[in-house]
Amino acid sequence: MLEKLLVTGAAGGVATQLRPLFADFAKTVRLSDVVAVDDVKETEEFFDCDLADEKAVFELVAGCDGIVHLGGISVEKPYSLIRAANLDGVYHLYEAVRQNGNPRIIFASSNHVVGYYRQDEHLDHTAIPKPDGLYGVSKCFGEAMASLYHDKFGVETAIVRIGSCFPEPADRRMLSTWLSAQDFARMIKRCMLAPRLGCPVIYGISDNETVWWSNEGTRYLGWRPQDSSEKFRDKVEAAAPPPGPEEPVAKYQGGVFTTHPIFKDED
Ligand SMILES: NC(=O)c1ccc[n+]([C@@H]2O[C@H](COP(=O)([O-])OP(=O)(O)OC[C@H]3O[C@@H](n4cnc5c(N)ncnc54)[C@H](O)[C@@H]3O)[C@@H](O)[C@H]2O)c1
Repeated sequence: MLEKLLVTGAAGGVATQLRPLFADFAKTVRLSDVVAVDDVKETEEFFDCDLADEKAVFELVAGCDGIVHLGGISVEKPYSLIRAANLDGVYHLYEAVRQNGNPRIIFASSNHVVGYYRQDEHLDHTAIPKPDGLYGVSKCFGEAMASLYHDKFGVETAIVRIGSCFPEPADRRMLSTWLSAQDFARMIKRCMLAPRLGCPVIYGISDNETVWWSNEGTRYLGWRPQDSSEKFRDKVEAAAPPPGPEEPVAKYQGGVFTTHPIFKDED
């Protein structure tokens, strides 16, 4: 059991699903976000912290022995927003970690790092990034920071290219990319407690029938997903007709993100 687990992005969708699953894993869960969390439990504490604020991030990280870094911009947005949260914020986090005893990090990367691979291509942890937007590029930066701080300072990070972590898959693409919160929580616990973590790339998917990604390279962690999107297939397929094979949602791993323009502040 950890003493103090930091969860950034605590008001977001993924953290909201994960929080109940950490009750038996850390004595205290430190939640942080720029948006308030209104149902803070007895074993939780909340820090209002903008990741773009270097000093605040230092104070946030102090005393934590594990970090689940979910905070940041999670969709395609103008560069200025992405830079503040996902570039500056990640730099602040790694600098704080380096100077606070190197707690392990679970870094919420994204499938959008490899979004321009086609859905008929099978990838493993060695895939060269093909991001599908500025958001995906920012996650490439985060992955590179994890690698740098591992090699230079020994900080261990699980780089998790999350597919789609929602209560249920919302469309046909998500039947391939779905990650249950339970599988994600089990992965996080394995990564935190493994004798050696290193700095692996792990694809964040459940044991779905139709997958594009392999986690063979990280079997040493002992994590095996136990859920599958298959139980939702009939519902998802009944909801909408299948897209044509050349439509981006059916062609590219990043789906609709490949269709976004470069958004500007004035948009
Ligand atoms: N949900 C998914 O399926 C999925 C897929 C791939 C990657 N991810 C990644 O996982 C993480 C969590 O995803 P989510 O769906 O919960 O996203 P979300 O947008 O629901 O939550 C992100 C949280 O980060 C906070 N945040 C944004 N900018 C901030 C800043 N400057 N300082 C502090 N906090 C800030 C937001 O207020 C928000 O509560 C994100 O990093 C996202 O990129 C999620």
